[in-house]
Amino acid sequence: MTEPDIKKGLAGVVVDTTAISKVNPETNSLLYRGYPVQELAATQPFEAVAYLLWHGELPDAAQLAAFRASEREHRALTDTVKTAIDLIPLEAHPMDEVRTAVSLIGASDTNAGGSVLDAGGSPEENLERSIRLFAALPAIVAYGQRRRRGEEPIAPRDDLDYSANFLWMTFGEEPDPVVVDAFNRSMILYAEHSFNASTFTARVITSTLSDLYSAVVGAIGALKGPLHGGANEAVLHIFDEIGEASNVVPWLDKALAEKRKIMGFGHRVYKSGDSRVPTMKAALDTLVEHYDRREVAELYDALESEFVARKGIYPNLDYPSGPAYNLIGFDTLTFTPLFVAARVTGWTAHVIEQAGANALIRPLSHYDGVDERHIEG
Ligand code: ACO
Repeated sequence: MTEPDIKKGLAGVVVDTTAISKVNPETNSLLYRGYPVQELAATQPFEAVAYLLWHGELPDAAQLAAFRASEREHRALTDTVKTAIDLIPLEAHPMDEVRTAVSLIGASDTNAGGSVLDAGGSPEENLERSIRLFAALPAIVAYGQRRRRGEEPIAPRDDLDYSANFLWMTFGEEPDPVVVDAFNRSMILYAEHSFNASTFTARVITSTLSDLYSAVVGAIGALKGPLHGGANEAVLHIFDEIGEASNVVPWLDKALAEKRKIMGFGHRVYKSGDSRVPTMKAALDTLVEHYDRREVAELYDALESEFVARKGIYPNLDYPSGPAYNLIGFDTLTFTPLFVAARVTGWTAHVIEQAGANALIRPLSHYDGVDERHIEG
């Protein structure tokens, strides 16, 4: 029998088409619905990019106003969600909180695919559910960080846009426009990235005609791992370990001798640099200047140049976003939940796309266990 051509980790396998985003490692570019992500980050509020991912076009002024009104309407958490979050041990990872809260919101939506006949829901229903999750996630993330700090939750503010309101609910202070702009850029950069592990998870779940909430809950689980979204948190742990730029060389000598993965570097698709990094690094630089924290940029630059020189492996988006979120004041454990708040837009766009042209995702495996045998006696 001939050995099958196994693509471990599905590396290099094209499994379907998508019209949502295009990742091109040759030109180091990333397009959302045709627009370069750098242009979107420089010119658009995150709400407009969410609209673009879902509808295929940027909103005009009236569409954006209507979309923002709908987002504001769904910002506040219900008492049920707050109570459920409060039941989760404070020592649990906040990704568990986010996963549980989304699951509960789904369970409370009794029309969400409970019936076999109406399994995933219509595109319109799923769009409505997507906006609700998009609107609720900042409150879930902010609630979690404040809970761990022993602080009272802060209600959303109707006079603030998505990013400013997110920071308001987390810190209870009117955020500086420089900080809002850097945060808004990070949300846009994290929003979508084709068939990454968490998005693919969402598509697999959708392909069984399960509901949108189940797909998002599964995607959150996939994102939690340090090889994927968990890396932005892990970058800060590394920064904390290294301490300052002058320690980079001995730290890296030891880490590489121990064959450690250096978090925030490397990518399955990009091999000569992540298209999103220059934009996020520029946002980090504005924060370094705003908070007057030159030493953060020094450590960032020292580790990057030393690791690239030794291994030829480049930073991914998690490398600049980790220290950026730290400077803004987010706790390290909150970083991956921030990624969820952004990526829920891409996940749900893919859920709707998958459901619209569905085929059950069910690959094959090659059995290499013991040969057939029988119970004796
Ligand atoms: N540190 C050290 N070595 C690395 C790293 C790294 N960050 N990334 C890749 N390598 C090495 C591997 O050890 C391997 O070496 P070998 O051939 O000698 O065994 C080689 O480069 C190829 O690496 P793979 O892990 O096989 O490549 P793959 O495409 O499967 O991995 C991945 C991509 C998982 C992202 C990897 O680069 C990694 O683990 N990076 C660290 C985690 C991380 O930053 N994840 C974030 C991804 S981007 C995002 O979610 C926004």
